[in-house]
Amino acid sequence: MPEQTRKILVTSALPYANGSIHLGHLLEHIQTDIWTRFQRMRGHSCYSVCADDAHGTPVMLKAQQLGITPEQMVAQTRDEHHQDLIDFGVNYDNYHVTHSDENKELCELVYNRLNDAGFISKRVISQLYDPEKEMFLPDRFVQGTCPKCDAEDQNGDSCDVCSATYDPTELKNPRSVVSGAEPVLRDSEHYFFDLPQFQDMLQDWLQSGAIQPEIANKLKEWFEEGMQQWDISRDAPYFGFEIPNAPGKFFYVWVDAPVGYMASFKNLCDKTDGLNFDEYWNKDSDAELYHFIGKDITYFHCLFWPAMLEGAGFRKPTGVNVHGFVTVNGAKMSKSKGTFIKGRTYLDHLNPEYLRYYFASKLSDAVSDIDLNFEDFAQKVNSDLVGKVVNIASRCASFITKRFDGKLSNNVLEPELVAEFHQAQASIAEAFEKRQYHKAVREIMALADKANQFIDTNAPWVTIKDESKQQFTHDVCSLGINLFRILVVYLKPVVPILASQSETFLNDELNWESSQSVLTDHPINKFKALMQRVDMDKVNAMIEDSKENLEPTVQLDPNSPLAKDPIAETISFEDFAKIDLRIARIAKAEHVEKADKLLRLELDLGGETRQVFAGIKSAYKPEDIEGKLTVMVANLAPRKMRFGMSEGMVLAAGPGGEELWILQPHEGAQPGMKVK
Ligand code: 2FM
Ligand code: ZN
Repeated sequence: MPEQTRKILVTSALPYANGSIHLGHLLEHIQTDIWTRFQRMRGHSCYSVCADDAHGTPVMLKAQQLGITPEQMVAQTRDEHHQDLIDFGVNYDNYHVTHSDENKELCELVYNRLNDAGFISKRVISQLYDPEKEMFLPDRFVQGTCPKCDAEDQNGDSCDVCSATYDPTELKNPRSVVSGAEPVLRDSEHYFFDLPQFQDMLQDWLQSGAIQPEIANKLKEWFEEGMQQWDISRDAPYFGFEIPNAPGKFFYVWVDAPVGYMASFKNLCDKTDGLNFDEYWNKDSDAELYHFIGKDITYFHCLFWPAMLEGAGFRKPTGVNVHGFVTVNGAKMSKSKGTFIKGRTYLDHLNPEYLRYYFASKLSDAVSDIDLNFEDFAQKVNSDLVGKVVNIASRCASFITKRFDGKLSNNVLEPELVAEFHQAQASIAEAFEKRQYHKAVREIMALADKANQFIDTNAPWVTIKDESKQQFTHDVCSLGINLFRILVVYLKPVVPILASQSETFLNDELNWESSQSVLTDHPINKFKALMQRVDMDKVNAMIEDSKENLEPTVQLDPNSPLAKDPIAETISFEDFAKIDLRIARIAKAEHVEKADKLLRLELDLGGETRQVFAGIKSAYKPEDIEGKLTVMVANLAPRKMRFGMSEGMVLAAGPGGEELWILQPHEGAQPGMKVK
C-alpha cells in the first residue's frame, strides 16, 4: 500500500425521522459514500455509520397527527430511509436510530460526566406555552404578525417579508401553530451547558485544519459575538430521553443526535468481532473521525459537539466536512415546480448512478451550493459515462469475443499511453482524498478521451477486415479493454454498480492497485450494455411526479374558504381506496368535560360500537343527533386523545352551524353499510 493502513470512522448527518430522503440529503450521503468506498479500495479500514434522528417536537407532533406512536413512526421511517439510501448505492456499515438503548446510555454518560465536571447549570426561563395543547412551543411552532413591519403570518423567529429576526415573545397576535390557541408566557427550569468554558479549546481546534477555512472564518464571527450558555433541556411532553435525576425534563434533540453517531458505532461494535468502541472514541484514540454535514448545521458540529466531547473526556473529530445546499435548475428546490424531488421518486424513473456521477462531477471541498441542472445532467452522463467510458468497452469487446476466442492478447501496444494511465493514479487519489471529486472526474474523463482517440486512430473495425492485421487488431482491442479497465478502477467509488458489472465482464476484481496492472492473455466475458443514456422523457416524468399543486392556478376570491384553507396535496386513487367509509348510527352523544369543541359519540356500526371524539360541538346539541345516521371513516387507526381513545372519524365537517350536517335516517340505510 502507498501509505500505512489508516483507521477511519465517518458519519453523515442523521436524517430526521419525519420526512423523506430527498436530493438534498443525497448529495451528502453520496459524498460520504464515495469517500468511504475510496478509502476501502485503498486498503484502509474505514467504517461508516448513520442513523435516523428520532427525537424532538416535530416528530412527536407528526406521529400524533398520524395517530401512531412516535416509536412506530420512527421505526417505519428509519426502514424507508435506509432502503432509499441502499438503492442509491449508499452502504453504511450500520444504520441505526437515535431512539435506542445505546444512545440513551451514552447520552446519560456524556451528561453525567459534564455534570460531574461542573459544566451544567440550572436556571428558570420564561417561554411561550400553548395552554390548549399543554406544551411549550419551539419558535417554529409560533406564528403571528411581524413586530417590525406588521406582515401577517410570520414565523416565531424571523420575518420572510422584512427579514427581521426577533424573539417569539415579540410577535404581535401570536398563535400556536399546533392548536391555534394564543400562547401564554410560562416559567420553567432549564438545564444549560457551559459552552463559554470551551472557547479557547475551540479556537485551537478550529485552527487545527479540522474544518474548511471559510467555515473557520464564519466561526470567528461567532466567537466575536461572544458565546452563550447552551439550553440543553426541554419540558414534557417531548419525544426524547429524560435527563438523569430531572423528572419531566428531556435532552434537547441536538444533544442526543450527535451522540447518536457514537451510539450507531457502539451498536456496530456490539455485533462485530474485534471492533472496539474505545479505540475510536477514547481521548487518546489513533483513529480518524470525520463528520460530513450541510452548512446549516455547522454551529452544532463545530462548537457544541466538540465542546461536549472534550468536556466528557472523549476525542474530538479529526475533520468536519461541510458542503453546500442543492439547488435544482438554478433555484431552491420547490414543491410546486416539481424540483423538490424525493429519492424514491427519482429511483422510480432514473438510474441512481447518473446522480452519483453528476454530483461527483460537481463536488469539491468548498461550501458552495451545487446546482443540479437537468439538461446539464443528461448531457454530462450521456457524453461522459455512456459516450466516453462505456463506449470504449463496447467498441472493442465484440471483436475479442467473436474473433479472438474471448481472450485478451499477450502483447501490450503503446506502453507510454499505458504508463500515463498508471501514473494518473496518484493525482486522482489525492483529489478523492481531499474531496475534490470534480477534479478526479475531470482527470478520468481526460484519460477516457485519450483512450477513445487511440481507438479512433487505429480503427479496429477497419483492420479486422484485413487478414494480415489480425494480431494488430487483437492488440488494439485488448489495449482498449485494458484502458477501460483502469478507468473503471478510478471510477469505482463513484459508480459502484457500473464497476461491479464491469468486473463481471472483465472477469477481474478491481481494487485501487488494479490500476497499475494490465491484463494479458486473460479471458473476458461477453459484453452486455453497461448503462443506458439518460432519457429526458423520464426526467420530465420524474418532475411531473414530484409536483405538488400547492399554488392555485386561478385567482381565488379572497372570501372563498379555499383562499384561507387550500385543498390538500392530491392523493392517488389507491390511497383513497384504503379509506373504509361506513354508515354509523349515533347511539349516544354527550358533552366532554373541559373540551370546548368536542362531543363524545358512541357509534353503532351494526355489530360493533366505536367511541369517537368529534369536533362538532359548535354545530350540534347532543340530544339532536342521537339516533341519526352519519358516515364514518371506520379503518382510521385509533388515536389516544386527552379524553380517551378515539376509534374513527365522523364525516361531518365544515365551518359549522348550518353547513355541518349529519344524515337523516332514511329507508334502506343501515349501520355498517359500506359507502361507495
Ligand atoms: O439537520 C438535520 O437534519 C439533523 N437531523 C442532523 C443531525 S446530525 C447529528 F448531529 F446527529
Ligand atoms: Zn417583517
